[in-house]
Amino acid sequence: MANSGPTTYPDVLTILQYPAPVLRKLATPVTAFDERLRAFAERMFETMYAAKGVGLAAPQVGVSRRLFVTDHAQRDGNGHSDRRVFINPRIENASGEETYEEGCLSFPGVYAKVTRHNRFDFVYQDLLGFEQRLTLDVEAGDFLGVVVQHELDHLDGKVFVDHLTAAQVTLVKRRLREMEKDYKTEHGKAGAVLRR
Ligand code: NI
Repeated sequence: MANSGPTTYPDVLTILQYPAPVLRKLATPVTAFDERLRAFAERMFETMYAAKGVGLAAPQVGVSRRLFVTDHAQRDGNGHSDRRVFINPRIENASGEETYEEGCLSFPGVYAKVTRHNRFDFVYQDLLGFEQRLTLDVEAGDFLGVVVQHELDHLDGKVFVDHLTAAQVTLVKRRLREMEKDYKTEHGKAGAVLRR
């Protein structure tokens, strides 16, 4: 896709659920660090909080661009907040593995343990376009490290269910079938279903 002209972002955000095809698309980089982008990030936070999530990626609201927002402190439920915006992110120097139970706002009612990198550098741009680097260690308590790996997947057209073993998929299959059926009823076509 050509990056000509300003990106337009939707004013009202709706969280799309599996099997919406946009969840399977490779998102394109953000190139304009302008007021539109900042306003969109703000709407993403509002949408994420309303849904009681700890992370939300742009493709989940139908915008196939490489950014996501997080607030991993929300998980503790003690009123703390740690709002972060990650733009054009990537992982460097990954090592080790950690397993955590994950869920996803695009897969309501589906939870499963996923194994991901333990230690890594997360390199990204902030809302002003400046490059930032975070060193995260999940085992040492950086739950944010789990969240950013989950959200980065969304930018690459991947979802957490892709990481599951065949045995784990069996456990959530019924719920996936329900979502596939609901999508078909609403849209009159099948969507991008998991091939398992
Ligand atoms: Ni998700």
